[in-house]
Amino acid sequence: MSVLDYLMTEPMPLRRALKYLLARTEIGSFSFRYRLEAVRRMHYAFILLEGARLASRLGLERISALEFGVAGGSGLRWMERHAAEIEKLYPVRIDIYGFDTGGGLPAPKDYRDLPYHWREGFFAMDRPALERSLSRAKLVFGDVAETSRTFFEQFDPAPIAAVAHDLDFYSSTHDALWLFKQDSRFLLPRLFCYFDDTIGTHRELYNDFTGERLAIAEFNREMDDRKIAVPHYLRAREGWGSWRHQIWVCHSFDHPQYNQFISDEDQQLPLVS
Ligand SMILES: C[S@@+](CC[C@H](N)C(=O)[O-])C[C@H]1O[C@@H](n2cnc3c(N)ncnc32)[C@H](O)[C@@H]1O
Repeated sequence: MSVLDYLMTEPMPLRRALKYLLARTEIGSFSFRYRLEAVRRMHYAFILLEGARLASRLGLERISALEFGVAGGSGLRWMERHAAEIEKLYPVRIDIYGFDTGGGLPAPKDYRDLPYHWREGFFAMDRPALERSLSRAKLVFGDVAETSRTFFEQFDPAPIAAVAHDLDFYSSTHDALWLFKQDSRFLLPRLFCYFDDTIGTHRELYNDFTGERLAIAEFNREMDDRKIAVPHYLRAREGWGSWRHQIWVCHSFDHPQYNQFISDEDQQLPLVS
């Protein structure tokens, strides 16, 4: 995008440029910049911070954050950085797990995986380099259709609070969402999710009938007690970036802690105005 395009199409170009500068220079504390939306890879910061905030309100000391689709690990490294900052704000330890085949995209299964946009083998990774670059995240290699089935048994993870979905395909996202259908002890009652492939461009034309959006829609049709829902307050937040349209929250109405009070005690309105 040229500078002219940017100035003519961005509704608040100066404000956005300021945020960009703050995020790049990291001037000010993490929480100060988070409030201003001046944090790089804000979507990861958002799901991790909201997950940790909810966990601390619920009295949990440890949570898990997952990324489905790791590739070179750029996203996972940002999750590690943000988790370290967020652990200073809330008394919650964040364990991070990254899922990937290790060999890039599998073959698309049918039109729902958008073969007009994706090809088998895209996003191949350098596994030793990835492993060297990570400080705390654990990698779960294999097709998510299998690794999602053995994850709880193999890792005995803390309840899942935040998930970044970046598997690109309908079929892979559908398989990953199997975890969201399991016993509520493995999940937070409201689980913060980022779905990367839900906006795209004129090429992908993401919609509710293919790709990640179809996986969300099917989950909601299938599950009575759990719904992956839009956080409307965030969508309404004018001036924040487009990532806020890629956030959903999985509500588990059947979770024993779903109804636990976590809001402000003092919500009394003046009796006489
Ligand atoms: C776009 S890349 C992820 C990029 C990464 N999140 C980042 O921030 O750099 C998508 C990844 O999903 C992985 N993937 C897709 N389908 C998968 C499946 N069924 N099982 C495991 N990994 C899968 C691919 O191997 C690929 O590395």
